[in-house]
Amino acid sequence: MTNPLPQAARRLQDKVCIVTGAASGIGRSIARLFAAHGAHVVVADVTTDVIEGGPSTVECIERDGHAARYMRTDVSDDAQVQAMVADTVARFGRLDVIVNNACVRHARPLLELDEAEWQRVLDVNLGGVYRCCRAAVRQMLAQPADAGFETHGVRGRIVNLSSQHGMIAAPGDLAYGVSKAGVDYLTRQVATDYAAHGIVCNAVAPGKIQTGAGGRAVDPGVLDRATRRTPWPRLGHPDDVAAAAVFLASGEATFITGATLMVDGGWMAA
Ligand SMILES: NC(=O)c1ccc[n+]([C@@H]2O[C@H](COP(=O)([O-])OP(=O)(O)OC[C@H]3O[C@@H](n4cnc5c(N)ncnc54)[C@H](O)[C@@H]3O)[C@@H](O)[C@H]2O)c1
Repeated sequence: MTNPLPQAARRLQDKVCIVTGAASGIGRSIARLFAAHGAHVVVADVTTDVIEGGPSTVECIERDGHAARYMRTDVSDDAQVQAMVADTVARFGRLDVIVNNACVRHARPLLELDEAEWQRVLDVNLGGVYRCCRAAVRQMLAQPADAGFETHGVRGRIVNLSSQHGMIAAPGDLAYGVSKAGVDYLTRQVATDYAAHGIVCNAVAPGKIQTGAGGRAVDPGVLDRATRRTPWPRLGHPDDVAAAAVFLASGEATFITGATLMVDGGWMAA
């Protein structure tokens, strides 16, 4: 068990939070940090297998001395997304935060990208965010503003995972970049349409984060380019992104909505 955060330092105490794609990588780190901050975490993923290896996310959270629940959810299936929210609310009474993090990759330039793979990447990375936002906002609008958020009248918070490649091209990776540009737009639109109803919606855009993902993510050429593009003298760690997600999920970020927070070591500034 790691040293627990003192009660006063916990920024998500008793908040009910879903993190999609939380079996591995950045989502796993977000789920663990949310739990350390006192949240009831639902780990929503298609698997409990950890790409980078080690015990499942729920086991890690339990070893850290907290509790979490795995719910098998494919974000490309609307019935499963609705069941994920319904089950969470049945168990915990409300939904305070959803982090839309699940993603797939299929890095191809236009002429090598067949339509089925284009559809699949968009269906998970963008369609999944649409479905999860829709199910979450429906629930959030039906629940009163939470006591902890009451002064701001916040009914719920959304944190979407974007990317620097939603803003600038990911060489040879068309569908992924398009999906992330869509996530950025969707974030602004949901924030705008539902601000008056107490929904806070933001995105985090990581730069190059070293997770366990293989393939192109660890291609020496990709790593070399990322290292040269990143002013900060190291690449990112999943915990860098998790810290930003905690901030955007917390009551400290209420007047911040429709924003995309770069967590990229300065990639987009250079
Ligand atoms: N790692 C980076 O450098 C980086 C950079 C920018 C943005 N991001 C974004 O951060 C997020 C996490 O990236 P990562 O590198 O940790 O990815 P990852 O590949 O390590 O993990 C993705 C997770 O999503 C899950 N998943 C896949 N399809 C799913 C589905 N249909 N339904 C539910 N879960 C599903 C996987 O099982 C896995 O646990 C993604 O949205 C990604 O686009 C990552």
